[in-house]
Amino acid sequence: NRTIYTAGRPPWYNLQGQLKEPFVIGLCGGSASGKTTVANKIIEQLGVPWVSMLSLDSFYKVLTPEQHKAALRNEYNFDHPDSFDADLAASVLKKLKEGKSVQVPIYDFKTHGRQEQMTNIYGANVIIFEGIMAFAYKDLRDLMDMKVFVDADPDVRLARRLKRDISERERDLVGVLQLYNTFVKPAFDQYIAPTVVYADIVVPRGGENNVAIDLIVRHVRTQLEQRGFNFRAQLRSFHQGQPLP
Ligand code: C5P
Repeated sequence: NRTIYTAGRPPWYNLQGQLKEPFVIGLCGGSASGKTTVANKIIEQLGVPWVSMLSLDSFYKVLTPEQHKAALRNEYNFDHPDSFDADLAASVLKKLKEGKSVQVPIYDFKTHGRQEQMTNIYGANVIIFEGIMAFAYKDLRDLMDMKVFVDADPDVRLARRLKRDISERERDLVGVLQLYNTFVKPAFDQYIAPTVVYADIVVPRGGENNVAIDLIVRHVRTQLEQRGFNFRAQLRSFHQGQPLP
């Protein structure tokens, strides 16, 4: 039995198949540009057993009571680089990159705060780090092996954002538009769009762009193989019905 289990890791964790250093994909793009869809398609098509996804949203700073009141009035700016604890995000991503498992805060968009419990993210072969400001901080950029900017028409992003915030984040139409016009749109122009210069690949039309996603997946597979990842062996163990995530 070539499977090695270690304490603190889930039982399916097969060190034989784990790379010494995971491949980190940074995914940046405006709010509701399709980052999550692109990430999910990459994960699905990669066919690699261990892919972890980390979101910059998990690292929104904890608000003071005053800031919280402002957030409830849609007057707090969540679309500014200072709204995130980028140092914490970088230290967590660094640990993941070292193959360690990490505790990550769970962010609740309904309460504008962190939930009491944290979630555990295990070391992986591929880590996807996504967020509106994913490329805004050098420390985070330096940890990324490939940077992908997800682009989408601004009208499409606003339409999606309205739908999502009303149905999933318990917001009302007027509030979403107020936040969008005051903070979200200016922030895209000022902080997000300029970071496209750091991207290796720009994906127009977000999650619908299957050709771009295919190209990304091919590149990641090649990189993993160069780092010693054995797709054939992994597929074999997968088909032998070993318990994989
Ligand atoms: O998922 P997405 O990338 O769109 O998440 C980022 C957006 O979440 C930001 O544009 C910000 O305006 C919004 N946000 C919010 N309420 C919070 C925190 C962030 O509407 N409490």
